[in-house]
Amino acid sequence: MRENDLPTERILIDCDPGHDDAAAILYAARHLDLAGITTVFGNNSLEATTRNALSVLALAGLDIPVHMGAGRPLSGVEMPAGDLHGKTGLDGAALPEPVTSPHALSAGEAILRHAEAGPLGIIALGPLTNLAQALEVNSGLTERIAWISLMGGTTGVGNSTSVAEFNIYCDPEAADIVFRSGLPIRMAGLNVTRQVGVGEEEIVYLRSLGGRLSTTFAGLFEFYLERSRTIFRLQKASLHDACAVVPLVHPDLIGFRKANVVIELVGRHTRGMTVCDFRGVALKDLQAITRSQESNVEVAVEVNGEKVVRKVFEAIASF
Ligand code: RIB
Ligand code: CA
Repeated sequence: MRENDLPTERILIDCDPGHDDAAAILYAARHLDLAGITTVFGNNSLEATTRNALSVLALAGLDIPVHMGAGRPLSGVEMPAGDLHGKTGLDGAALPEPVTSPHALSAGEAILRHAEAGPLGIIALGPLTNLAQALEVNSGLTERIAWISLMGGTTGVGNSTSVAEFNIYCDPEAADIVFRSGLPIRMAGLNVTRQVGVGEEEIVYLRSLGGRLSTTFAGLFEFYLERSRTIFRLQKASLHDACAVVPLVHPDLIGFRKANVVIELVGRHTRGMTVCDFRGVALKDLQAITRSQESNVEVAVEVNGEKVVRKVFEAIASF
């Protein structure tokens, strides 16, 4: 991934809109050349997340193909979506009807096609099922995917459980395939994304930018804020997914450290945990100390949350 220039690879966003996905899509569309959007279950059903993606594009007048992906995790065990994002998965404002239908190619087919056509960057904002399935179909894909920038996991406190973050917890087997793939991964976890908060003050700023999208998203975020407070007792609603896109455009706003990250699959209390090893232990010195494995991930460890929110809101208002 190039440091200070915009990515030169073609880019797909894999997502489960979701309020924060919707904001991340518009920020990405403002700054990057998106080849397509792939949808996955997560914040709501696949049908709902797909519809929401199409409605957000209609709202912003964007013509970006949307490819439907997986409706359930690799394990087949469906996860209750919960109501953090409301019954539709994007409650809080009247959104336009989609003006396009999902593309004929599925998410997996789109990932494979775009990867064949040239180096591909993937921004992953939901459960990693689509990417894992594509990697399972074609292991040679790792030669054609330049990087993955994902929102998921945490170096500390979870949300779905005390230690697991929702996107990983929805499909730990898929996350395990992706994190073991050897692909260059950047991971923005809850440890930084929770610092990217939207409260009343930020919503007032968004409204002050004026325009139809600002007003619509102000309504969406008022809903998301109320649910975040009720469910998680948080002061602010988090723009989790923006943290997977912002480093591609404004690299100074999020700092990363290399670590070895593995996905816990079997722990009775820890399934879905992103186990991040920052120790860098070189040798197996003592029985009690295990050697660190090679770092496979750049893990986000610091963020200028206020600036990220402003950049995202300015992008939303620019449509
Ligand atoms: O844990 C936060 C993640 O889960 C975000 O991607 C949010 O959209 C939900 O998918
Ligand atoms: Ca998401």
